[in-house]
Amino acid sequence: MSAKLRLGVNIDHVATVRNARGGARPDPVRAALLAIESGADGITAHLREDRRHIRDADIARLKAEISKPLNFEMAVTDEMLAIAARTRPHACCLVPEKREERTTEGGLDVQGQKAALIPAIAKLKAAGSRISLFIEPDEAPIRLSKELGADIVELHTGTWCHAVEAGDATKAEAEFQRLKAGAAFGASIGLEMHAGHGLDYETAEKLATVPEFVEFNIGHFIIGEAIFVGLPEAIRQMRAAMDRGVAKRA
Ligand code: PXP
Repeated sequence: MSAKLRLGVNIDHVATVRNARGGARPDPVRAALLAIESGADGITAHLREDRRHIRDADIARLKAEISKPLNFEMAVTDEMLAIAARTRPHACCLVPEKREERTTEGGLDVQGQKAALIPAIAKLKAAGSRISLFIEPDEAPIRLSKELGADIVELHTGTWCHAVEAGDATKAEAEFQRLKAGAAFGASIGLEMHAGHGLDYETAEKLATVPEFVEFNIGHFIIGEAIFVGLPEAIRQMRAAMDRGVAKRA
């Protein structure tokens, strides 16, 4: 267990804004460099099948230009596997992907995708990447992720964050307990525990109290806040929120 909780900043939505006009600005790689300068411990980017935000050239530039780990989010497809094997990112986070969704809406169906995951994990490991599976915080997918050779699981925090945002205290508490139990179980079987999706200052601070988490990956909220306070300040405030949570660890 690490006392330091890493912050991975997801820069996808800088590319979303860029693509809205079709030009080169704002540049997500510039955002990644500034995020690192401002205290990010790594950069996360999701190359979606439809290229709605991050593009192939962004991934190549990120790998070449950033000094901190690149966490490459990808669906388990032949195309993405070939790009990951060529790029050799520090980590590959395998996520489910549906064209019609606005964002990654649920965890990976580890059982249902088992046949595809086994060769994919072998290929990515051979390329030297650490393997992370983005899953729901339940024992069955956590255990199966370990059996399939994942190094890391990233627990999907979206359901919890939605319940907090909706003011549904009962559901929020149940979802928080689910995340807490999932983190404890995953760490007990030797997995590195990450979390992400929908986190803001409040939820990141609370989740940081759970001692098994070593990394959060946060994008939408930070990029949104950056409009108002600037990216360095949004990252500084997120870091401070996470540090307040870590300070409360038992
Ligand atoms: N982790 C994973 C695996 C994701 O798919 C996403 C969303 O792209 C995030 C973290 C970041 O979520 P958000 O943008 O809501 O902070």
